[in-house]
Amino acid sequence: MLFFFLHSVLYKWLNIRSSSNCRNSKRVSMSTSPNTTVILYLISLIILSCTKFVIATNFYRDFNIWWGNGRGSIHDNGKLLMLSLDEYSGSGIQSYREYLFSKIDMQIKLIQGNSAGTVTTFYLASEGDNRDEIDIEFLGNLSGNPYTLHTNMYIKGSGSREQQIHLWFDPTTSFHTYTIIWNPFMIVIYVDGTPIRVFKNWESRGVPYMKELPMRIYASLWNADQWATRGGAIKTNWTEAPFRTWFRNYKARGCLWKNEESCSKAIKHDWYKQKQLDLRNLEMLKWVQRNYMIYNYCNDFNRFPHGLPPECSLDTPT
Ligand SMILES: *[C@@H]1O[C@H](CO)[C@@H](O)[C@H](O)[C@H]1NC(C)=O
Ligand SMILES: *[C@@H]1O[C@H](CO)[C@@H](O)[C@H](O)[C@H]1NC(C)=O
Repeated sequence: MLFFFLHSVLYKWLNIRSSSNCRNSKRVSMSTSPNTTVILYLISLIILSCTKFVIATNFYRDFNIWWGNGRGSIHDNGKLLMLSLDEYSGSGIQSYREYLFSKIDMQIKLIQGNSAGTVTTFYLASEGDNRDEIDIEFLGNLSGNPYTLHTNMYIKGSGSREQQIHLWFDPTTSFHTYTIIWNPFMIVIYVDGTPIRVFKNWESRGVPYMKELPMRIYASLWNADQWATRGGAIKTNWTEAPFRTWFRNYKARGCLWKNEESCSKAIKHDWYKQKQLDLRNLEMLKWVQRNYMIYNYCNDFNRFPHGLPPECSLDTPT
């Protein structure tokens, strides 16, 4: 009886682990013999060899509401997060864990109605002065005017790699999925599965890349009416506060910092191995760039009179 119980527990466990792609789990499950000591031994082996790769899905367990003094709240057993902003403060969360390479999905429903002056963010950042950062920022707008999705890449404290798009849907009426993939070869940002930005590792051509500093996951809502909406011309209308943004179905997969080496060897996921977009995704990226892009630093010759950053000529999809 006990054996069957343990066996089924182990079996479930192995299934879960193999979905997180620990290298040995399949082999182990085949060699499982009807003997509890063997099973327990194997369980401990698996725990030892697989704890470095994590799948995290719960706001309660994985995040600290690190500012906003009660303006952020978690609901629905950790599945739903609300961030709010009023005249006195915004709010934000920070993940407890630090990752070195990860794939993160977040569903977000942005402020409805007049969101001018506000910024909602979802990003990865390391700590300290010379930070690495992969930024997604949603710049609010007057009712009926489109949100701007703004992205940027900071490497060792240096950014100036902004791109902006409008979305092909209204992001305030329902949840949409925003995904960051960060692997050793490239960063891809997706909106509902459509890639909107790729930043490749061009270290071989002298462009720096984010691969040394571990990053935490952040989300926040704050006031940036000095610059956010039409370059700061439109200010936040506080009679409509508090403003609220909703987050749900968060899912992070990745290597925990300090265990990176053993972890990355175990990762067999496509997102981790992927070196470039396939043709279909490349077509989708081009569709976004053709139809929805409103700013690209790589086209801003006035801003870079001495020549565009080197990745601009390397990254251009053909
Ligand atoms: C706001 O709406 C205007 C007019 O449609 C648009 O040009 C602008 O990109 C929108 N977004 C922001 C953040 O200003
Ligand atoms: C701010 O919002 C209120 C309520 O919607 C509106 O009556 C007022 O005209 C707005 N103020 C500005 C400066 O647009």
